[in-house]
Amino acid sequence: MDENIIERVRELRKRIERYNYFYYAKNNSIISDYEYDKLVQELEEYEERYPELKDASSPSQIVGSSLKDSKFTKVAHKKPMLSLSNTYNIKDVEDFNSRVKKILKSDENVDYVLELKLDGLSISLHYESGALVQGLTRGDGVVGEDVTENIMQIESIPKFLREEVDLEVRGEIVLPLSEFIKLNQQREENGEEPFANPRNAASGTLRQLDPEIVKSRNLDCYFYYLADSEKHGIHRHNESLKYIENLGFKTTGIYDVCGSIEELEARIGYWESHRGNLDYETDGMVIKVDEIGLYESLGYTTKSPRWAIAYKFPAKQVSTTLLDVSYQVGRMGTVTPVAELEPVEVSGSVVRRASLHNFDEIKRKDIRIGDRVFIEKAAEIIPQVVKVVKEARTGEEREIVEPENCPVCGSTLERKSGEVALKCLNERCPAKLQRRIEYFVSRDAMNIDGLGSKIVERFIEIGRLRDVADVYDLHLYREELENLDKMGKKSVDNLVKSIEESKKREYSKTLYALGIPFVGKYLANVLANESKNIDLLMEMGEEELLEIEGVGQKVAQSVCQFFKDEENLVTIERLKNYGVNFSAKEVAKGEDSLKFQGKTFLATGKLNHYTRSGIKELIEKLGGENLSGVNKKLDYLIVGEKAGSKLKKAQELGSVTILTEEEFMDMIS
Ligand code: IVH
Repeated sequence: MDENIIERVRELRKRIERYNYFYYAKNNSIISDYEYDKLVQELEEYEERYPELKDASSPSQIVGSSLKDSKFTKVAHKKPMLSLSNTYNIKDVEDFNSRVKKILKSDENVDYVLELKLDGLSISLHYESGALVQGLTRGDGVVGEDVTENIMQIESIPKFLREEVDLEVRGEIVLPLSEFIKLNQQREENGEEPFANPRNAASGTLRQLDPEIVKSRNLDCYFYYLADSEKHGIHRHNESLKYIENLGFKTTGIYDVCGSIEELEARIGYWESHRGNLDYETDGMVIKVDEIGLYESLGYTTKSPRWAIAYKFPAKQVSTTLLDVSYQVGRMGTVTPVAELEPVEVSGSVVRRASLHNFDEIKRKDIRIGDRVFIEKAAEIIPQVVKVVKEARTGEEREIVEPENCPVCGSTLERKSGEVALKCLNERCPAKLQRRIEYFVSRDAMNIDGLGSKIVERFIEIGRLRDVADVYDLHLYREELENLDKMGKKSVDNLVKSIEESKKREYSKTLYALGIPFVGKYLANVLANESKNIDLLMEMGEEELLEIEGVGQKVAQSVCQFFKDEENLVTIERLKNYGVNFSAKEVAKGEDSLKFQGKTFLATGKLNHYTRSGIKELIEKLGGENLSGVNKKLDYLIVGEKAGSKLKKAQELGSVTILTEEEFMDMIS
């Protein structure tokens, strides 16, 4: 046999094993899925042509990782957890359909269930008499890791089912995109390495030895498979999904029975263009034969069933040129390098900038200015530079030099030993002030509408914003505001209204808005509940803070430090003088506080008494849910002036109760 072929197969095996190791043991993909699949496909083709090159140790025969490095107890799966073979176009789906029909020796159309393929990590859960008893990761497909304790921390996983049944279900653990973004922001602020994508974050989280960390990260889980369905009297896959939904399991709810290739193609097309609207990442769709009785005749390969196949969406990676590197200064002074790119389209939008995270990352990937780079939209939202095309180098590329001074205020940057983050320590750095104000007005904090970065930047420049408390003086500068880009009288009115409204925010939100290091939304809530008002909180010493559940050394120190700082005390005093709320209200837990429970609302048109976010917050407080469009699920449409198509649609539907703003106010009073 040709030496070159033997050498290529050896190389393919080595490379795939290395990628597997990073993917499964280190939660880090160092190659795109598409490229990985191509390498596996190439190896499989050689092995098919030259069977003498194939043996049981080939990565083509192994699903998942070797479990060498795992810290968890290993448990054998009752049935192997297999993978799926991948396809990338409709022609492959047609081939799959023909293969199925050939094996079944049938000319008739086969019913398929088309589901979303979530990009997380698979999990197998065992229930006895309706109680969750064990959770296993896939591991190498035959033996998994026992992560039961961590699974218990995931809120959406039922610990008890609605019936006392014994069963095994399989599903995908994911980190919702909104949580992923928050987690990475936090990590970057703390000088920790951000996760490359939600899948790595989910996988890294589930393998934490501390269940408290798992709890704090808000993982989610969607189920797609019931083992031994027929034992439960179920003969169709789509029925098994409905059955597990009724027992209390979450599915994506996105599964359709399709009776033809045309139908499959149409649904795949739909989800390919709509997947960006989901709060979790999907990398494709799964097509499964619906009739479970056919599974045995269709059979299995060593790695995957012959009754299902994955259709992968096209890769989201594209290449472009790195034109330059700029720097962003965070709220706590962390300086993050940002890639300035030649504009390029990725999954439907034009990307001009991408995060480079930190200098360790730049060095590891050996990124230089002028390089041809591949970028990818992690989580469909934040673009990242994933790798450099070294073959395209001309020699003209320039090294990216770590800055010594803050790009905004010029003060010397510091890097603590053992940390990756570069920091600007100047408390008066305008960039830090800008981030602090942006954080202060953000949705989870004071929720002030209409104070965008441009306005903040300009008002810092002209000396009108020197501190977060200055936000409450902005109404004095109406004229200057109105003269700003695009700020007409109406937007200024709304902004002023929103600033005024924000004084009534709950204590926990005001506390969060102060931006005490390490005090995120969750801890702000805990501290607000424990202290009743800010004066009492300020009096607490480290010891006392440490007694609060959820508060550790780092947080206790940070809180005390924050309240010792003279400038922070002045800010708090000023905010109090403006009338900003710093105490917890005793909420009556009567019927009234949940007046809108189970009801859905939407506001449309111009409102006179509320801002858009203000009315939404009020509805949520009263237990109601906000919808974004008019549909059959909508109970109430609140109409302001000049309500348009939404009102028309609600009238057409007939099932929606239409309220004027005044009627809505009567309802809550
Ligand atoms: S079915 C034998 N359905 O994709 C059946 N898998 O690439 C195997 N996945 O290991 C699984 N969404 O982790 C199935 N709707 C879905 C899925 C799904 C995501 C994952 C799962 C599997 C991997 C295969």
